[in-house]
Amino acid sequence: MSEILLSQLAHVELISPKPDKTVEWMKEVFGLEETTREGQSVYLRGWAEWLHSSLIVTEGPEPGVGRIGWRTYGPEDPEIVAKRLAGTEEAVGWVDAWTGHGATYRYRAPHGRHLHEVFWDVERYQAPPEKRDPVLENRPQRFSGRGIGARYLDHVTMPTRNMRGDIDFYRRLGARHTAQTEVEPGFEVFSTLTCNGIRSTHDLALVPDFSGMTGRAHHVAFRVDQRQDVERAAEIFLANDTPIEFGPGIHGIDEITYLYVREPGGFRMEINAGGWVNTMPDWETTTYQAADGNPGQNLWRNVDAPDGFHDAWPLPAGQAADRQHAAVTDERMRGFFGDQAGGPR
Ligand SMILES: [Fe+2]
Repeated sequence: MSEILLSQLAHVELISPKPDKTVEWMKEVFGLEETTREGQSVYLRGWAEWLHSSLIVTEGPEPGVGRIGWRTYGPEDPEIVAKRLAGTEEAVGWVDAWTGHGATYRYRAPHGRHLHEVFWDVERYQAPPEKRDPVLENRPQRFSGRGIGARYLDHVTMPTRNMRGDIDFYRRLGARHTAQTEVEPGFEVFSTLTCNGIRSTHDLALVPDFSGMTGRAHHVAFRVDQRQDVERAAEIFLANDTPIEFGPGIHGIDEITYLYVREPGGFRMEINAGGWVNTMPDWETTTYQAADGNPGQNLWRNVDAPDGFHDAWPLPAGQAADRQHAAVTDERMRGFFGDQAGGPR
């Protein structure tokens, strides 16, 4: 019998040491919509997303990712996940209904120790009359046209000290391991996974973590409709004093046009478009070689990722000091990041 437990990556909690600036940037530059505020968190969603929230900005001492939320494929599936993980070191437990969501089961990946949560019941966005789309009923609201207009959450990329171990764990919950990049045979430096056959090639990506730390994150990605929208996004970022870190370019693994920037809290955000849809349930993992110009990362094999692109948050202590020094001596970055550790060099 085949099984799909998870229907989609539903939300990511972004920790920000500058939550007010992060939220303002997410709304005015990234184009997200605010759903609600509660406690130390602000709940946001893309203009075309039906669910309550896809990005939860929570105040914290350093940039990073908190909880990673998955909606299940049916009402009984959170219980199936809970039973499957019962008695393991990965099990965390149930939480009662919380902002916009019903009962939720939490667990951690065995090696990266990232905190995940699965749920079925979730509030749908209800647009007030002035925000309703006058024609398209499959849209929760009319197109906002604000900032880059990020449409919906796409994926999250996280370092782990044991890529193979965490890949095997995610596969136990139904993820397909779609592609990987090696620097030499058997030494993976990037892997993509997806929880179902509906989205593109990945909603989760893993990179190795040599820091000795756990629970770190590399970036969170949202989508826009067209590849040209990514180029326009680059212009909008520049016009709003947001330095571009990497791109636009095309990743060979999933053929998406990518663009990476840092939000004001210091965390890396990706906006992308295009790509192909891998619907093959029996897909066998493809392997790219970094030594071959790393076409998985850069389709045209003519651009390397810049220094600092492998930074993930929270930064290790020594690296944080280096980045802080670099940020305050870099005129281009000073106005955007101030004296905060975690800015790009
Ligand atoms: Fe990405």
